[in-house]
Formats: sequence, structure tokens, C-alpha cells
Amino acid sequence: METDGCEIGDCEEGDIDQIIAIERDAFPTPWSENIFRGEIASPLSRLRVAREGGDRRGAVLGYAVTWRVADEIHLHNIAVRRDRRRQGIGSRLLGEAMGRSRSEGARWMTLEVRRTNDAAQRFYQKFGFSCRGVRPGYYTDTGEDALILWTDLCPVPVAESALRAIGEGDDG
Ligand SMILES: CC(C)(COP(=O)(O)OP(=O)(O)OC[C@H]1O[C@@H](n2cnc3c(N)ncnc32)[C@H](O)[C@@H]1OP(=O)(O)O)[C@@H](O)C(=O)NCCC(=O)NCCS
Repeated sequence: METDGCEIGDCEEGDIDQIIAIERDAFPTPWSENIFRGEIASPLSRLRVAREGGDRRGAVLGYAVTWRVADEIHLHNIAVRRDRRRQGIGSRLLGEAMGRSRSEGARWMTLEVRRTNDAAQRFYQKFGFSCRGVRPGYYTDTGEDALILWTDLCPVPVAESALRAIGEGDDG
């Protein structure tokens, strides 16, 4: 995956126009500029961007919005500019969010995804997300369901001795 020259950083005021352009191209019901400005202002929210060239003036290639709620991180939005998809940029954004959340003590990450969004579901599967529920008719624009995905940010390693105790270990 070619992600050289792309850096993840905090969103700045001057990034908004490019974020809106990516958002409008990516989603049938895009977030408005006001929603993004609200995310930047909210202490609960984190809006991170992937920038080309590792330079503050580099073009915005993607972004991710997370919220912390107790020990859970909610991934509210993630998108990559269409012409730069399948180059590992989404993975950089999600990987960074997961790593940072874990180091800050969060335990779980959760998100909603459209039932028909196969690309995103495959993307999340690669990061260990699995479906734990469905919100029927959640998306009011198309009436489609949302799948609720979760992943454990800190899976507890199961000791061999514990596996043996429940009869699943290698007893050879
Ligand atoms: C989902 C999204 C953010 C992924 O970003 P990306 O930069 O293209 O993802 P990556 O290049 O890091 O892909 C990582 C892996 O995810 C999977 N994946 C990503 N896009 C895929 C696609 N279109 N089809 C199948 N698998 C895909 C692959 O396993 C891929 O690894 P590979 O390229 O080595 O096979 C991007 O497709 C996007 O912006 N989609 C539109 C917005 C959206 O749907 N957001 C999610 C809302 S819940």
C-alpha cells in the first residue's frame, strides 16, 4: 500500500472546504459545513485529516471523526478522496485512531455502516470489527439498515493454562 508522503494531523480551519468536497462525493446524505465546524469545536470530538506531503498546506486526502463516550470510541465518519482510495490512507486514519484510543485507555470502538456498503464492511473487517447488531431503517434517505460493528481495542490474551483448563489447549 503506497501511503508515503501522507501524514495524519489535526484538522485546521483551512481544511474544511476540501473535507466538504470529499464528503459530498462520498455520501448520499453528506454532513454539512456546520456539522464539521461543530465537530472541530466540540471537546468530545476529534477530527483528524490525512494530508499529502506531510505538510500543513498539503491537500486533504481523507479524514476521520471519532467521539469518546466513557471507554468507547465511536467512529462517526471516515472518508478518503475517491482518486486516492485503495492506497492505504483509510487504514492510516483508522489505525491511528485505534492506536491513539487504546493508548488513552479506551476499550472498544464502534460504528454504524450501511448494509449495502460492502467496501467499508471489508475495510472494517480487516481491522477486526464484527457485526453485533442491526438498526432497521436507520438511514432515512434510503430506508436501509445500519449494521452496528464493534471491535475490542484491548483483547485479553488467553493463557495456555486457561485454555487447558477448559479443554481447548494443546495438551500434547
Ligand atoms: C471505506 C474507505 C474509507 C476505505 O479507505 P481506503 O483508503 O480506500 O482504504 P485502504 O486502502 O486503507 O483499504 C484497506 C483494506 O480495506 C479493504 N477495502 C477497502 N476498499 C475496498 C473496496 N472498495 N472493496 C473491497 N475491499 C476494500 C481491503 O481489504 C483493503 O486492503 P487491500 O487494498 O490491501 O485489499 C473508502 O472506501 C471511502 O472513503 N469510502 C466512502 C466513504 C465511506 O463509505 N465511509 C465509511 C462509512 S461507514
